[in-house]
This record gives sequence, structure tokens and C-alpha cells, in this order.
Amino acid sequence: MRAMQSEYMHWAKFKKPVRFALTGSEVPHFRMDLLPISIADLDLDGASHPRYVPLRDSIAAHAGVGPERVVAADGTSMANFVAMAALIGPGDEVLIERPTYEPLLAAASFLGANIRRFDRDPKRGFTIDLDQLATMTSDRTRLLVVTNLHNPSSALTAEDDLRLLAEIAGRSGARILVDEVYLDSAVPPKRSAIHLGAEFVCTNSLTKVYGLSGLRCGWILAEPELAERMWRLNDLFGVNQAHPAERLACIAFEQLDMVVGDVPRLLQRNRSLFNAFVASREDLDCMTAEHGIVAFPRWSGGDTALLDDLLRERYDTAVVPGRWFEMEDHFRVDLGCPTDVLQEGLGRLGAALDEFR
Ligand SMILES: Cc1ncc(COP(=O)(O)O)c(C=O)c1O
Repeated sequence: MRAMQSEYMHWAKFKKPVRFALTGSEVPHFRMDLLPISIADLDLDGASHPRYVPLRDSIAAHAGVGPERVVAADGTSMANFVAMAALIGPGDEVLIERPTYEPLLAAASFLGANIRRFDRDPKRGFTIDLDQLATMTSDRTRLLVVTNLHNPSSALTAEDDLRLLAEIAGRSGARILVDEVYLDSAVPPKRSAIHLGAEFVCTNSLTKVYGLSGLRCGWILAEPELAERMWRLNDLFGVNQAHPAERLACIAFEQLDMVVGDVPRLLQRNRSLFNAFVASREDLDCMTAEHGIVAFPRWSGGDTALLDDLLRERYDTAVVPGRWFEMEDHFRVDLGCPTDVLQEGLGRLGAALDEFR
């Protein structure tokens, strides 16, 4: 049965709110009213602007590519969907990492792909098992799908491994979709895989690292012929992006340093806090948080859905249970929230964990 929805996204949107929600995966929202904007800047002339050139140029400059490689989309979500829809059809073989961000699986399933999985082993820092992958690919393989940084673990796939990935994909004539929505929170930031070869198709947005999810400013980077196909495909889906949002995204790109502000220091502080918390607990095991906005510890107590239930019932706190990432004994923790929220949330998490001892 092909997927007709993302189970995870529905849960993420409509779960019961709690005070110390360590379920998020983006930095605090940036207030657009801090930017010097007047209503005239929004150019509300009623028209839509196909392939709006200033935004395409801004994204191209940000990614360090020419605008002919840029396709705009509503968030990384739509970018992933458009990219997949241009690359695969019913029955095509697609290899997707495990664990992964569930909507990637659901989108491939919706498109009728024959999905196979390759593992990222927690014992090896959630790195991609390139040997396993090499044995799985064949001339039937159309697409490999990875996240970099990895959601849920924030593991970074280095350029050397990306090049090996390209070699493996190249033997089958397959492409590689790299969801890079967390990449700008690598320490230090890394360039997009688009620079490493024509096999790569990369997606990203202003959501996670820039706190501008409301703008839905996403994009796909791909070689020009493929980019053109994706623009054409978008004529079936949304035709154009909302123009005021395109204008606001251009303004945000112009002021990106201000948008980023203190976020790298916030993330560094939160990662240190989280690392110290894990080090203090015998029932948790987690690679050191060096990059990214989320972490994915293993709990020796078993099914983390029970832990989340207790957190919600007694502690007004929540984490993302590992079942959403096909690893029930892990859970995901948000490192992008304000530090006082994380501190209190971790304290409550510790108390809940103690109850299971
Ligand atoms: C790997 C990954 N891709 C895409 C998204 C969605 O991003 P956007 O808001 O840009 O659609 C998320 C959000 O959790 C994510 O984790």
C-alpha cells in the first residue's frame, strides 16, 4: 500500500502541547519585524512572479552555484517531493537510509517507489555503511536518499564519504538526494554536496537553522537540465510561490547575519549542556553532540514511547519517541530551544528516567 500521508508529520503538528517540549528541531523563530521592512518592500501588486529572479539569485549566491541550478519550492518538504517526483516513478528502486526522517519514506512510497533500506549504525556514529550500500545498488537503482546532517542523529557525512557515495551511485546511473536542511548547523558549516558532482540533488530551506519556517522558503539544487524539469513539474503542483513570501525571503537573505545572530552560540551552549547530561547518566548512550540541532540518545530502559508518556503525564515535558525513526530504544532531543527550556527539560527528563530504575 502506498503512503497517502506522513504519519510522523501529523503527529508532530497535532500532538498535545507541553511546557518543556524537547520535540522541536529548529532554532528559535526569528522575528521579521526586527528587519527594516516597509509594506512597499513586499511589492504587493497582485501579480505572481514565475521563477522570481531576485530570490533565485539570492539562493544561488547562498549556495555558491549559478542560478540555473536553483529551483524554488515551499520548504524543504516540497523541495524533497518535487525532486523525487522528477527523479522516480512507480516501481523504481529507491534506497533510503535507516533511520531517517519519515516524510522522505512516505513521499517515495506515495510515488510508488520500490523502497529498500540501508543502515546507519549507532555503534558507528550513524555513519553510512558504504560497503553495505555498494552491495545493494544495481542497474535497477534510480535514487539514493540521505539526510546530511542526519536526522535524527545529526551525524555529519564528510565530503570523502559523499564522493564514495557518488561513485557507488554513478555505477548504477542513480542520483543521490541529499536533504541538507540541517547542514548550515554543522561546526564549522560545510558546503552543499551539489559541488561534488552531477549525481547530487540537494534540498534545503530557511527553516531549521534560520528560524524562518513560516516563510516556507525552500529550494532544490540540481544540474540545469534536471532543474528545468523540476520547475516544469512545479506547474502541476503550486505553479508559483507566494510572492510576498518571496520578497520577505530576499530581505532575509540580505540580512542573513542578523537573522543568524547569536544562534551558533546558543547551539554550542545547548550541545555542551546535553553532553554533560548524557555523561552523568548510565542509562543513556549518545555520540557527543558536535553539530546540528537535535541529538538521538539510546536508553537502556527499552521502549522510549513509555518514557515520553511518563514525561507528558507527570513532567509537562516531551521528547520524540524513537518509534518515529524505527528505533524504539532511542529518542530525539531538541537542542535548538532556549537554554533555560533545555536545562529545565533535561532536569525533568532525568527525574523521569530515574523513575524507571
Ligand atoms: C530532514 C528534514 N527535512 C525537511 C524538513 C522540513 O523542512 P521545511 O520546513 O523546510 O519544509 C525537516 C523538518 O523536520 C527535516 O527534519
